[in-house]
Amino acid sequence: MAGNQARRLVVGISGASGAIYGVRILDACRELGIESHLIVSRAAALTLREETAVSPSDLAARASVTYKIGDVGAAVASGSFPALGMIIAPCSVRTFSEIASGVTTSLLTRAADVTLKERRPLVLMVRETPLHLGHLRTLVQLAEMGAVIAPPVPAFYAKPASLEEMVDQSVGRALDLFGLAWSAVRPVGGGGVPFRRGGRVTAWDFAVALYARPGVEAVCLRLQDVDGQCVPLLLWRLWSVREDRKRRGRGCQARGRVRATWERSAIAPLRQVRRRLKAPFPPVAAVARAALRGEVAAAELAAERALLDALDALTPEPGGALLDALAALRALGALWGRAPSEEGLGRLVMAAGVEGPLAEPRRSATNHDAPACG
Ligand SMILES: Cc1cc2nc3c(=O)[nH]c(=O)nc-3n(C[C@H](O)[C@H](O)[C@H](O)COP(=O)(O)O)c2cc1C
Repeated sequence: MAGNQARRLVVGISGASGAIYGVRILDACRELGIESHLIVSRAAALTLREETAVSPSDLAARASVTYKIGDVGAAVASGSFPALGMIIAPCSVRTFSEIASGVTTSLLTRAADVTLKERRPLVLMVRETPLHLGHLRTLVQLAEMGAVIAPPVPAFYAKPASLEEMVDQSVGRALDLFGLAWSAVRPVGGGGVPFRRGGRVTAWDFAVALYARPGVEAVCLRLQDVDGQCVPLLLWRLWSVREDRKRRGRGCQARGRVRATWERSAIAPLRQVRRRLKAPFPPVAAVARAALRGEVAAAELAAERALLDALDALTPEPGGALLDALAALRALGALWGRAPSEEGLGRLVMAAGVEGPLAEPRRSATNHDAPACG
């Protein structure tokens, strides 16, 4: 899988209630290895003080780069600054109204305007209630301009045990909009168990959580480069074992087809371009090359996610079969590429916590509270 390293997110915090959302987004970025570029409005400095124990210097320490609100000449004020997009969390009425008008008076709203004009995702965690018709009309206008209106609304089905969990659940949902699976990698109680979203851990959630574990990236790269294996397929197989799903039966042929064609048409070409962009291309500037490489890496990751989502959708529901994860990977790996290294497969299985035949199903389709892996 492609790494996170070349990715950046512009993070704005405005003066609506809920400064903690912005704080947790910065924490999430750090955990995901995403560069965070922070802009805080003057009013947000007030709400931060009113609502949290986080000082301005603590806040700045959580971000990769912090900009002054009036610095309209900063890098993030230009469309040439490559980024995944921008999130404003929380987003006040004043800030979203200014973005909608295009009359931007601060770096916060200028960066948002640039994000829209560059057709990058702009996610606004709008916080105000109730809303009058003017607010609603302005939000419609923003949605028409391409912004994603994502108010931090609690999901009670996730049964949050605390305010912190409620905040993190909203933050996870907002980051999903950028393809960042923070909710999956964030350990609960330090046990390495992924958060469950919507009652189910998807193949993608599982893959991202596993990939983030120590040593797994190196094992995957070896399996890919030395043994010619399709890593998303192996991760999907581990997920399906972990979820007690059978490989054979419904969807088997369709999965084989989508894997082969999608890898050939999207994943492999993107990987090739990303790797070629490692070498200097004078007179192309190194900065421009690195920026393009980051965008290609993000596209490669999106292609891998699309494959895992497609495989996930084509997988039968849990069947409670007796499954041996190592044997399942060995059999699958033998179908594609060279026979995968036993050591590599063994390490993957250990990291996923699915070693050995499973004597009985770990959970049923309706058991939403059981841990998903690890
Ligand atoms: C404690 C506190 C809570 C606030 N909550 C909200 C809110 O939830 N939504 C909102 O739009 N404005 C809220 N405001 C008002 C904004 O801070 C105010 O409109 C400010 O001018 C916004 O500026 P900014 O968008 O540049 O941050 C709040 C202000 C304070 C002091």
